[in-house]
Amino acid sequence: MHANGQARRAGNTFSGGPVPALLPHTRRTFATAVRSGGPGQVRRARAGPWIFGGRRAPLTATVARMADESFTHPRLAALYDPLQADRGDLDAYLDLAGRLGARTVLDIGCGTGVFALLLAARGAEVVGVDPARACLDVARAKPGAEHVCWIHGDAVALPPPQVDLVAMTANTAQEITGPRAWHTTLARAFEALRPGGHLVFETRDPARRAWEGWNRDATRTVTDLPGAGAVETWADLVAVDGALVTFRWTYVFATDGQVLTSTSTLRFRERAEVEADLAAHGFALHDVRGAPDRPGRELVFIATRPPRPSPDARPAAGTARPQGT
Ligand SMILES: C[S@@+](CC[C@H](N)C(=O)[O-])C[C@H]1O[C@@H](n2cnc3c(N)ncnc32)[C@H](O)[C@@H]1O
Repeated sequence: MHANGQARRAGNTFSGGPVPALLPHTRRTFATAVRSGGPGQVRRARAGPWIFGGRRAPLTATVARMADESFTHPRLAALYDPLQADRGDLDAYLDLAGRLGARTVLDIGCGTGVFALLLAARGAEVVGVDPARACLDVARAKPGAEHVCWIHGDAVALPPPQVDLVAMTANTAQEITGPRAWHTTLARAFEALRPGGHLVFETRDPARRAWEGWNRDATRTVTDLPGAGAVETWADLVAVDGALVTFRWTYVFATDGQVLTSTSTLRFRERAEVEADLAAHGFALHDVRGAPDRPGRELVFIATRPPRPSPDARPAAGTARPQGT
């Protein structure tokens, strides 16, 4: 579903409180460390070796799965922001980042860079990664893009930073449909976090069966976009195969009559499944909450990479390893 689907949001927050600014700029060591080709430059997977945190980190993988046409076709990627005019969904993420004091953030599936740029404007050092080059081209053309490090790839392509926060906004987690890609993403997110850092992402609650509303009657809109003219869009459900839901967006451009389609598949994960996956990768679950702008529809997971045990820590009684094992 296009970004957050039918949800157009008011500017709420997770906590109901105001959205604080992040901490002021400190040293720009995080983003600048991964940027060897100039600010705001899109980097390709396999473009390594990377310099990160003073270390060279060779890239070992390519983009695992091409993103949908909505994100990869330049004409459609250019529509993403105008069609998602209300990004109140990001307020809760900004609020969380502020409350956590996140100075360094990794935005997986950053798309057109809306969240990454909001964070950077608040003083965070941000790396945005996305497999859709057309989205990244939109992102790096925006004011302030030079303050973000853009990486063309998926989580597999990440060097090993130690960030305070890893985020996947706007149901990006559902775009990662394959079990291998999903587990790799979680593993890389864990590695990317410093001990004590947080991972936050949302996924639609399967119990709400959002796909039942993904039909032409319920989704058709005609939007007059500056520079692009009127664009008619609608979604059609194509198939439901267990947890995988496939649908197709159609875009009709009034200016020249061009018709483009984008077929997407999303994975709807149950809460228990996500919790088990997080635990399997070593995360401690901090909270599962709703998205305030889409009450009852989303599951928002906040997980922590557990802090390193103190070197002085002693095993709890009864947990000592038996001799000889
Ligand atoms: C709905 S958009 C959300 C973009 C952005 N997070 C936002 O808030 O606007 C989903 C994004 O996930 C990206 N994506 C698809 N597969 C991915 C993967 N395996 N890893 C990372 N990002 C992926 C797409 O290219 C797209 O930009």
